[in-house]
Parts: sequence; C-alpha cells; structure tokens
Amino acid sequence: MLIFATSDKGGTGRSVTSCNVAFRSSLDNREVCYLDFDFGSPTAGAIFQVAGAASGTRNGGLHSYLDGRTSQPERIDIWSSSDRQSLRQRPPGAGQLVLFPGDHGGSEFPNTPEMNKRCADLFLRLDEEFDIVIVDLSAGRSYATDMVLAATAMPSLRKVLTRWLIFHRWTNQHVGAAAGLVYDEGGILATGEERGHDRQELLDALRLVRTAVINPDAEELSPLRPAQIAFLRECNSRLTDLASSRKVGITQVIASIPLDPLLQWREQLISDNDLYERKIANVETVEAFEKLAKDIVDPVAWEVV
Ligand SMILES: Nc1ncnc2c1ncn2[C@@H]1O[C@H](COP(=O)(O)OP(=O)(O)OP(=O)(O)O)[C@@H](O)[C@H]1O
Ligand SMILES: [Mg+2]
Repeated sequence: MLIFATSDKGGTGRSVTSCNVAFRSSLDNREVCYLDFDFGSPTAGAIFQVAGAASGTRNGGLHSYLDGRTSQPERIDIWSSSDRQSLRQRPPGAGQLVLFPGDHGGSEFPNTPEMNKRCADLFLRLDEEFDIVIVDLSAGRSYATDMVLAATAMPSLRKVLTRWLIFHRWTNQHVGAAAGLVYDEGGILATGEERGHDRQELLDALRLVRTAVINPDAEELSPLRPAQIAFLRECNSRLTDLASSRKVGITQVIASIPLDPLLQWREQLISDNDLYERKIANVETVEAFEKLAKDIVDPVAWEVV
C-alpha cells in the first residue's frame, strides 16, 4: 500500500506523525519504508536520528534517483543505523523499517515525464517489497504532489492500493488551508483529474489527520482559569463547524493526534523507552499513532470514520 502524506502548510506535524506511524507500524510486524519526497527540505533522517542523513544523504538519494544519476536510491535500515540506543535493536516480531532519504543539498525541481516514470517504477518495486510505503511530500501545491499524482495514474500503478493523508493543525487557518488543498483550484482533486485520476476515487482514498490537538475537557487543563477553558471549548466548537462546512469534518477525519509536550520540543520517534521507562511522552499520543497505523490498513476503519 502506498500512503501519501501531505499538508497545505508547513510545520503541521506531517513528518513527525508519519515517522512515528511508520515506526509503530513496523513494530506491529509490517514491512515499512519511508520515502522523503519533501524535496526542498529532506530532513526525515533527523527524525529517525540517522546522523549521516539528518539533512539528506551524500550517497545518491531520491533526488539522484529521480533525475537518473543512480538506478538505486540509498536505503537506510533504521534498526541498525539510528543513533538512538533504544532503536538499535529490532524487537522480536518487528518488520523492516527503511528510510529512503533525499539528497543532501537537494531542492525542489520541476518534474519531467521521465522522472514521473522513474517514480512509478520505484513505487511499484517498493509496493512489492513492503507492506507499507509512506511518502512524505513537500507541502502545498508542490511538484512532488504533481509527480506522484502523475505516477499513480499510470496503468502500471492503477491496481496498487493508495491512500492520502492530509495533515493540518486544529486552527482556523489550517482547517481552511487543508480544505483548499483538497478541493480548490490547483489542489489534489483538480490536479489528480488533470493527471487522469477519477475524482471520486481519489476523494475516497483521502482522509484528514488533525495534529497537536488540545482536548478542552482534558483533566490536565484543569489548572487553567475557567475563562480560558470556556474559550477553548468555544474555539473547538467553532472549528468543528468550520471543518464540516468545508468538507473536512469528522466523516473525513481518520485521526486526531493529541498535542504532546515531548514533540512540542523535539522532532523524534517516541520509543517505548520514552513512554514506559523515562515517562517523558504521553500514552495517548502513542495510542493515537498506533491506531492510525492500524486504521490506514483496515478497510472497515477507513470506510467508517
Ligand atoms: N502531536 C504533536 N504535539 C506537539 N508537537 C508536535 C506534534 N506533532 C508534531 N509536533 C511538532 O510540530 C513541529 C512541526 O512538525 P513536523 O516537522 O512534523 O511538521 P511538517 O508538517 O512535516 O513540517 P515541514 O513542512 O517543515 O516539513 C515539530 O517541532 C514537531 O515536533
Ligand atoms: Mg516535514
């Protein structure tokens, strides 16, 4: 299965959430790979804590592959290459967790038909090898998004199961922007149609992920003043109305990831060590990652959201 992770705005939590979902999915016995298609800022290596690839690789990554300078983009096995001690041993039962980084110093580039074809070939190969292929796309109406829409419209990829996750924060601006990226001119549905996709099929394959969400009724907010809690409740209710009026409401949402103090301060995987030994992350956050990892591959959860 191919999973495309995108967002209209930057800094939505797209990469950190996707990396953690990849990690949880591989702990759940799936073979997982993660492709850094954020071409202008290839920093997924930093989240997986692979020092040599923190800002892309110098050994021929996805940029080099797509423009034909290498036939095999570099692949990094996270279980053996992460600098984090707590990730260095692949737990029994865990599947592969492989990062395909972009090139160090790589930037955005306009796509050509040859690149789109190379992209489709890579997706096809990886879909055969892995259960889950997560592709972290550049934000907004990007060349990367256009490239994968062109690639997945090719006959060779038509039968491959594909899903889209649109990430956004739980604010007015982000809700509007996410809806715009899906439905407006130049957005995913319109560009997809231009590239040969069926609009309704694409829409059925697409769900929203809300990130860093504060629950106004959470017990930990009880130290807030009553006026602050009342204000948060009111915002939450207005946002809920706005999201449904823009067709990114609850029936389109596949996950809501709580705000986590650890992630607020550091872009990283939350390991079981962070959770149970050091107790520096919230259980609810990891449960939300685990649930999303399960729901994306569960046809029933995907349909009935
Ligand atoms: N659930 C969360 N709670 C608190 N902070 C979070 C959460 N998820 C992500 N963050 C933080 O938000 C910031 C942006 O996240 P991230 O880099 O994943 O976003 P992005 O959409 O991939 O951004 P970019 O467009 O720059 O690639 C990071 O500092 C990250 O650690
Ligand atoms: Mg990112």
